[in-house]
Amino acid sequence: MNPRRHLLKAALAAATAPALLLGGKATAAARPADFAAAAAREPLLTPLFGVNDATGDRDAEARLIGRWPAALRGRFYRNGPALLERAGQRYHHWFDGDGMVQQFRIEGGRVVHRGRLVRTAKLAREREAGRFLVDALGTTFPGQAPAAGRDSFNTANTSALEHAGRVLAMWEGGSAYAMSPDDLSTQGPVSWRADLAQVPFSAHPKVDPQGHLWNIGAAGEQLVVWHVDPAGRLARVQLTGSPFPFGMVHDMAVTARHLVVPLPPVKLDFATPAEGSRRRFAMSPGEPLRVLVMDKDDVTRQRVFELPPRMVFHVSNAHDTADGEVVLGFVAAPDAAFLDEGAVALMAGRPGVGLGSEPVVARLNMVDGGVRLQPLAGGGAGVEFPRVHPHRVGEAARHVVFAAAWAHGPRRRHALFHGVQLLDTASGRVRRFDYGADAIAEEHVFVPKPGGRGELDAWLLGTTFDAKRQATVLNLLDAARIEDGPVAQAVLPYALPLGFHGNFTAA
Ligand SMILES: [Fe+2]
Repeated sequence: MNPRRHLLKAALAAATAPALLLGGKATAAARPADFAAAAAREPLLTPLFGVNDATGDRDAEARLIGRWPAALRGRFYRNGPALLERAGQRYHHWFDGDGMVQQFRIEGGRVVHRGRLVRTAKLAREREAGRFLVDALGTTFPGQAPAAGRDSFNTANTSALEHAGRVLAMWEGGSAYAMSPDDLSTQGPVSWRADLAQVPFSAHPKVDPQGHLWNIGAAGEQLVVWHVDPAGRLARVQLTGSPFPFGMVHDMAVTARHLVVPLPPVKLDFATPAEGSRRRFAMSPGEPLRVLVMDKDDVTRQRVFELPPRMVFHVSNAHDTADGEVVLGFVAAPDAAFLDEGAVALMAGRPGVGLGSEPVVARLNMVDGGVRLQPLAGGGAGVEFPRVHPHRVGEAARHVVFAAAWAHGPRRRHALFHGVQLLDTASGRVRRFDYGADAIAEEHVFVPKPGGRGELDAWLLGTTFDAKRQATVLNLLDAARIEDGPVAQAVLPYALPLGFHGNFTAA
């Protein structure tokens, strides 16, 4: 079968996997009143109310603290599950909400925020119906009928990236949605080629320093590999199968020669049986963490490495060495507790399990198939959302920034992060800044300083929720002096929903 027929087959198979609701009861999901009662006692929970159809569009100029450097000009985007409740329904799982893209436009000494719910097909149908209709990752609704393709339940809620003049709002299981960088209006799902409509374009593409975008998508038993050129045109699409079920396919790394995909032993699909209206997730006993390494030029040329069982959401980076190793940095947890329990506890307003995850480097020998693991000192912190300097993507990167939590006892009021941490992978040295007990720290990204040469000739840009102000704050730190904390802040007049991932585009 030629590759185009394979892709069509994969897309069609995906269309029948999940299901839509015909006439369910609103009581199937979690109870909004229970969460509201918890949030009344814990001001850190406010962002988890999310937004509604009216508050999902936000525009404001931020109040500035400190001096925003004139040399920093551009647009910082974030995305996350934002619409979490409808008509007495509340999703069980944090990952289920409809996506909302945040844009922080930084220029001329001002920071202007614009937020927009992504106008997906799902959002339009559910707006019209006045209730949730569609099965989500962690919440199911009774009374189901066949779905009309993956994009009928696509929430576009995981990451946002401006590439070649458009903003891509991305999700794991369907098309990217394109939005205008000018006003964040939704332009619609991206079909990179006519026969590739609804084929998954996952949420963690990597853009190499030359502007080429590489991405994957798991479509049934096929893995799709996307290569989009710096002008935003589809350069090539490739397909590969696998001798084992892919399970969860969330993130990937790119090197000069390879694509690297961690495959934790967790099923993340709509076929997983639900307990009541809640879907459960666990690691499959006895299954390893697999790492699939593929040749970029021919993804069917591949090696699979088996590592001790670990849950992995995110990679930091990867690179090739002269002696035939692929060096992969990632964040690993001993189990899937955050996916199964932590993200559900957050939605219920309960203090849940943290991620318990730590940075790891795996040296994967492409010649003899050997694996060497190097756990790195986390400094006693749980970390996630690893990022490296954008000019080092696919090359050796010495420094990795994480959102991190290291407080214990009564200070640990929630399962998320309160600080930002920079790891020097060469020396093992950890430096950090604590936003305090009244803050939730989110992903921070490296932003190169104009003319800067080293990895630390950069700013770190990231959001926090400030429970005392009940507002979202955009923070700017100097990567070389992270422990000094923000050199400038931009305070919004409202709280945004918590988000997952984002990216900066220089103006
Ligand atoms: Fe992610």
